[in-house]
Amino acid sequence: MMKNKTIVLSGDKSISHRALMVSSISKGVNRITNLCNGRDVASTISCLRLCGAKIERRAKSYVISTSRLSKPAEPLDCGNSGTTIRLLSGLLAGQGVEATLYGDDSLMNRPMGRIINPLSKMGAKIENRDNKIIVKRASIKGGNIDNNTSSAQVKSSIILAGLGAKNKTILNESYDSRDHTERMLNYHSAHSIYANEGRILINPSDLSSKDLEIPGDISKASFLIAYACLLKGASITLKNVSINPYRIGFIRTLIKMEADIAIDNKKNKYGEPIGDIHVKYSSRLKNIRVTAQNVRDMIDEIPILAVVASFSKGVMIIDGVSELKLKESDRVFSITSNLRSMGVDIRESKESIMIKGQINLYNTNIKTFSDHRIAMAFYIASLLAKRTAKIDDLDCIDISFPDFFDKIREISL
Ligand code: S3P
Repeated sequence: MMKNKTIVLSGDKSISHRALMVSSISKGVNRITNLCNGRDVASTISCLRLCGAKIERRAKSYVISTSRLSKPAEPLDCGNSGTTIRLLSGLLAGQGVEATLYGDDSLMNRPMGRIINPLSKMGAKIENRDNKIIVKRASIKGGNIDNNTSSAQVKSSIILAGLGAKNKTILNESYDSRDHTERMLNYHSAHSIYANEGRILINPSDLSSKDLEIPGDISKASFLIAYACLLKGASITLKNVSINPYRIGFIRTLIKMEADIAIDNKKNKYGEPIGDIHVKYSSRLKNIRVTAQNVRDMIDEIPILAVVASFSKGVMIIDGVSELKLKESDRVFSITSNLRSMGVDIRESKESIMIKGQINLYNTNIKTFSDHRIAMAFYIASLLAKRTAKIDDLDCIDISFPDFFDKIREISL
C-alpha cells in the first residue's frame, strides 16, 4: 500500500470564468484567490482587460476593480474557450459594449446559434460573421426566454445579458445544468436572481464587490480520482474540491461501480459546496449503465469515464452522448477511435456508447485532436496499460490543467 497523498488543486475553471466576469461588473474592489491556472481562464482575463477591466495579479490573488466595461480597441481572442466566448458575448451585450469575439479553429467550429438566438430575442444585435461573433450596441429588453439546449454556457450567457436589461428576464430551462452563475450572482447580490425548478428570474441589477476563494476543480480532480481508483495501492485525499451537485456525476457513477470513494469535511464557502474527497485503489470496478441525466452531471468527464470503463468488468452503456460531439473535439469520435485502436470493443450509436471492459489494452498512437480532456484521459490510459503510448499533442493539457503531470507524479510516487 502506498502512503496516502494529500493533493491541493487550483481553482475550478467554470467558477473562475464566472468570478472574473461577475467581479468586472461589480462596483468596488473584488479579490479572488485560487483562480484556475489554465490557458482558458487566461483568455478570459485578457479579453476582460481589453474591455477596460482592471485586473491586477497579486502574490496570492487577483484584485478586480473596474469602473465600467468599454468597447475594446481590438477583437477579443477567446482562444479555445467556449465558456469565454459564450458568457462574454452575453455579458457585453447586456452592458451595451460593442465587441468582436473570435477563437481558434476548434472554437469557431462549435455552435454559436445557441447563444445568438436567445440573446437576439432579448434585443441584442449579435451575429456570427466570417467566423467571428460580432456584438453591436443595443438595448436589451429582457422578457420570456426558453432554453431547450442542455448547456450551462447558454444559460449563463442569457443570465449575464439579463443583468443589464431594461426589464426582468424570465428564463425557462428544459434541462438542469451546473448552477455556478446563479450561485455567484446570489452571493454578490441576493436580489439579482431567483432560481426555482427550471425557472430563473433575473432582475437588472448593480452588483456589489465581494471576496471569493475558488474551490478546487472537480473536473481536474476527476482525472486523479480515476487514476487512483485504477492504480494498485494508490490512496489520495483531494482537499477543498467543488462538490456542486451538477458536477459530481462522475463520483456518483464510480461509487455505483463499487469504487472506494468517500467525501467528508463538507461545507458551504462563498455560495458553493466544497469537501475533501478520499479515494483508494479498487481491485475490480463493475461497469454499469449511465443515463442521459447522469451524463449531464459529468459532461466533461465522459472521456475519462470511458477509460475507466475499459479497465472495468462487464459492459458500460453511456446514454445521451450527442452534446459530446460539440465539445473541444467531437468526443464521441475521439473516445471511440482511440479506445478502438487500443484494442477495446467499443461501439457507438446516435445517442449511446457501449464499452466492453477488459484488462489488457494495447500500445498505440493516440490522437488528441488538441482536446485537453482527451489528452489527459489517454495519458492515464497509457500509464495503466503499462506501455507508453505515443500521444500526438500533450501541450493542449495547459488549457485547463498545467500541473497535471506533477499531480500524476505525486500519486505514483
Ligand atoms: C461549462 C459548461 C459545459 C462544459 C464546459 C464548461 C461552463 O459546457 O462542457 O467545459 O463553464 O458553463 P455546455 O454548457 O456547453 O454543456
